[in-house]
Amino acid sequence: DWTSDVFIDATVAELKEKIGSDKVVMGLSGGVDSSVAATLIHRAIGDQLTCVFVDNGLLRKNEFEEVLDSYKHMGLNVIGVDSKQRFYDALKGLTDPEDKRKAIGRVFIEVFDDEAHKIEGVKWLGQGTIYPDVIESVSVKGPSATIKSHHNVGGLPDFMKLSVVEPLNTLFKDEVREVGRALEIVETIIGRHPFPGPGLGIRILGDVTAEKVKTLQEVDHIFIQGLKDHGLYDQVWQAGAMLLPIQSVGVMGDERTYEKVVALRAVGSVDGMTADWIHLPYEFLGKISNEIINRVKGVNRVVYDISSKPPATIEWE
Ligand code: XMP
Repeated sequence: DWTSDVFIDATVAELKEKIGSDKVVMGLSGGVDSSVAATLIHRAIGDQLTCVFVDNGLLRKNEFEEVLDSYKHMGLNVIGVDSKQRFYDALKGLTDPEDKRKAIGRVFIEVFDDEAHKIEGVKWLGQGTIYPDVIESVSVKGPSATIKSHHNVGGLPDFMKLSVVEPLNTLFKDEVREVGRALEIVETIIGRHPFPGPGLGIRILGDVTAEKVKTLQEVDHIFIQGLKDHGLYDQVWQAGAMLLPIQSVGVMGDERTYEKVVALRAVGSVDGMTADWIHLPYEFLGKISNEIINRVKGVNRVVYDISSKPPATIEWE
């Protein structure tokens, strides 16, 4: 029978054997998968592991600082890289979702490669790939039918010539969380909703600018904090907000406004392959909608997404 303790012991032993005295580099995302994978590798080989956490300018509000802090507390050897501007420059003028994903993926690899080259004699690339990522990238992404390219799967540029180590690639999300808890990783990381690698870059429909990121971060923060304050966060598999590329007419005092529309989305799922929209209480939605419109400049309308996957997907892009 599968237990997290047996898995941890076996995996740590296996990693020790496999990696020996080599060095490993690994990108962290702030998510549960990469955090658990890094902790396992760290347990096996200690500071032979160097982690890189990139601020792509598409993270949630305050996320980079908060998560970097948690990593340091966990004893991980982690380098934080502020590359916001590099990502915004690469995204400039791009509107197609796949073009945006490719640009974000490309810059991530460039930044990551720059950092990896600073580590002398690194041989391995650690990845937080979990089982559903493996399946989805095989089944969804035939050469003729690329639905969405998940850049965190197999995202290894040839020129890096590193061998990949993926300690979680047989596990489902709930098992990863169990392992993370057994490793005593803080609950703010373990219980964290999944978040796409391209981050807010694919939740800002159309072209991405620093200003739009700022607006969406504020909206997203009110929604997510609201879910936490109302005890709803843990009942939701994933939640977030989309900044729509349209404006709508509103009224503020006796002024007519013509401003942005945001969509809120909260879904229940097991592995992200199918998902149902969550019936959040009307009271809660009303309160959050008011708070967003009153507090976030440039937004005058909030809608709630009631589509399930399939046929919709979780993300809008
Ligand atoms: P979809 O939108 O395909 O999302 O229903 C399923 C899950 O995957 C996440 N997602 C991504 N994750 N890179 C990622 O790392 C991506 O390009 C990407 N697109 C979607 C999404 O947030 C959900 O958890």
